[in-house]
Amino acid sequence: MTTLSEHAIAILRENDRGSYTVPTKGLYPFQWNWDSCLTALGQRHFDEARAWTEIETLFAHQWLCGMVPHIVFHQMDDGYFPGPTVWATGRPVPTSGITQPPVAGFALKRLFDRATDRPAAEAQARALLPKVAAWHRWFFATRDPGGEGLVAILHPWESGRDNSVDWDAPFARVPTDGIAPYTRRDTQHANPEHRPTKAQYDRYLWLVEHFRALDWDTARMHDASPFQVIDPGFNAILIRSCAELADLADALGETALAAENRALAAKGLAAMESLWSPEHGQYLCRDRAAGALIDSPSVGGLLAAFCAIPPARAEAITAKIEAHGTRFRVASHPPQSAEFDAKRYWRGPVWLVVNYMIADGLAHAGQEAAAARITASSLDLIRESGFAEYYDPITGEPLGGGRFTWTAAMVLEFLAMEG
Ligand code: GLC
Repeated sequence: MTTLSEHAIAILRENDRGSYTVPTKGLYPFQWNWDSCLTALGQRHFDEARAWTEIETLFAHQWLCGMVPHIVFHQMDDGYFPGPTVWATGRPVPTSGITQPPVAGFALKRLFDRATDRPAAEAQARALLPKVAAWHRWFFATRDPGGEGLVAILHPWESGRDNSVDWDAPFARVPTDGIAPYTRRDTQHANPEHRPTKAQYDRYLWLVEHFRALDWDTARMHDASPFQVIDPGFNAILIRSCAELADLADALGETALAAENRALAAKGLAAMESLWSPEHGQYLCRDRAAGALIDSPSVGGLLAAFCAIPPARAEAITAKIEAHGTRFRVASHPPQSAEFDAKRYWRGPVWLVVNYMIADGLAHAGQEAAAARITASSLDLIRESGFAEYYDPITGEPLGGGRFTWTAAMVLEFLAMEG
């Protein structure tokens, strides 16, 4: 009988394309940004050198401005839409033109801390450090033009939570007229009932075409975008990565980079409080274009626990998770809410990567029991339902793609945490 860990390793090996890993065969045939960084944390358990390569490959496709794109199209595959011809970013190896949650700084530090081959870890960390720092600098320069300390996403795909209820209100402002006719491919690989709607896809594409018309000039995109949302989960990941990168820079004697990233983390953390909703008892997104908080208590506001929020906030977030009352935690939207949809992607289902970051943050904030409950619930889910992309939080039904890379990687991390 294969153990859970052997099963996870087999999936990671099967989706390995040599120097990068695909999220799953068919549905996602390229390299995804935050998938890769979290996947490296799984790979380190059986092949440390391969884990470094995963992040190295991603950063080999960093743009000159500092942005790290959300997809790298290493090999052509028409099983995915929108592909490189739609993005048309003019890169030697085609990439998308938007980014994804910057978990790299955190992943880098974790790989470095836990590495057994110290000389290799030091060499790899030294090479990647300035690249991650450049990405962080790019975020604050282009996505926080007012200097408030929090960055905006300009496309729901940047959040990694593609069709969250969080984007419904700001999406109402995104037009759909004039978009080129298209055929979706995702709904040929997965149940359309569990995927984003056509109305959402039209808007995803309108934004892509809009940014393409700006020649992907990332310095102009923010102000030109009708969609500018400050996501607490995304910002927490950036703040945590800045803090971790600062510690790493100190360990490597790079004091200037350490000071720069520590200051960014401190400013972001202070600004994060402007996203707290006493009414909901959690953080919320802010619609920067409209200048108001978005009334949607999604998991993005709970993921804020990934950075060093005040202990009372972490306690309130623990209570929110309890209040969801689902057998499997953490639902991406509260079941008590009218918009909750147990099977539709980011509108209710459980995602293991989100669980991992929330559990890690809560453990740091002194909520060890809550973190342990998330870990146990995540492993129960896998034992009962296998390695899917996401799951119904009430029944545990596996949903979306199968044999999923980052789910497998998180299982190896959860097993280590449990042990
Ligand atoms: C979906 C997810 C996103 C992920 C990608 C590849 O688009 O919403 O977070 O990075 O799939 O797994």
